[in-house]
Amino acid sequence: PVQAVQRTLMGLGQMVTINASLDAETAELLCAEHGIDLQIREPESIEDTLLNQIDDKVDADEDLLERPPVVTFLGHVDHGKTSLLDKIIGLDVVSGEAGGITQHIRAYIVDKGEKKIAFVDTPGHEAFTEMRARGANVTDIAVLIVAADDGVMPQTEEAISHAKAAGVPIIVALNKMDVPGANPDKALQQLSQHGLLPAEWGGDVEVVKTSAITGEGVDTLLETILLTSEIHEYKANPSREAVGVCLEAEQESDRGVLAKLIVNNGTLKVGDVVVCGSTFGRVKAMYDTLNPRIRLEEAPPSTPVNVTGFDEAPAAGERFYVLDDIADAREIAEMRASRNREQHLGGHTVKISFEDFQAR
Ligand code: GTP
Ligand code: MG
Repeated sequence: PVQAVQRTLMGLGQMVTINASLDAETAELLCAEHGIDLQIREPESIEDTLLNQIDDKVDADEDLLERPPVVTFLGHVDHGKTSLLDKIIGLDVVSGEAGGITQHIRAYIVDKGEKKIAFVDTPGHEAFTEMRARGANVTDIAVLIVAADDGVMPQTEEAISHAKAAGVPIIVALNKMDVPGANPDKALQQLSQHGLLPAEWGGDVEVVKTSAITGEGVDTLLETILLTSEIHEYKANPSREAVGVCLEAEQESDRGVLAKLIVNNGTLKVGDVVVCGSTFGRVKAMYDTLNPRIRLEEAPPSTPVNVTGFDEAPAAGERFYVLDDIADAREIAEMRASRNREQHLGGHTVKISFEDFQAR
């Protein structure tokens, strides 16, 4: 009864009205007096409530439409990922690369016949493990490029484990078939030893023999990708708020922050409020990743897009969410930023008195 509660509290030295709120310590004392078992829960943060709600949202079947597959090229350095992708898309990225080495994660969406495919190119150099993992994490299908003259190498093995960890189907492109030293059988043997048994040997891994120079097998590789995608029927709900991943981001002097995002679900629009890791903003402009002169108003599911409008460059690999309210986005970003700072300082905090502080 309320009176009993008030009496106990009076005994504890507190005069309270019926709608007063109690601090945790008083509540514990009160409950102890009355033999009541009390559990105190921290209120959920806005981060948890809002973002979990978005993550938990299940799209109704009738809202789900076919979306383009995201296809990531992975493999050892110099095995021909960029060259093959150039050949498929009809580009020449490879000749413009510093030192002939890919140092960024690239993503494009292109029309292939009646279908669209989003391609992600990753670096093969051993220094870029994190980028390969990121590429594998956003993909639906992994294309493992293995040079037939070199076989399975350390970053091939690494790429296999990233793709397996991501649980995505793997297609092998046995590349550089035009090179005189090409030894496809040896490479197939090595792949089998790594748990990738080629279809031609009775396994379930499609292996396509290719050459980025002569163009051999490039059409077959594309057909295999499309076939794999058809089997899996990738779907998304283009009518919901967008969620996705930041592939990379940088501070550009003229445009502010330019973030390369890929949309997993929903449609990202100019004007949307976005939170990504400890950064937030309102999408100011979006640009096609192949042709920066093309401005986009909308980015539907599976679309990679360059976005301006973030306050700071978001960390690569962070998930982004579209929210209704910029104040919520700011609060979540600031909370995360201060948590990051605390973790960063972790163990090194020094307590000083106000007097000491003033004296400094
Ligand atoms: P990283 O991104 O740095 O890991 O390299 P990559 O896998 O993208 O290889 P890239 O496409 O840069 O090709 C490396 C070198 O191999 C280039 O000189 C290409 O011209 C050459 N190359 C790629 N594919 C083939 C091929 O099928 N045949 C021959 N002969 N050379 C190839
Ligand atoms: Mg490359």
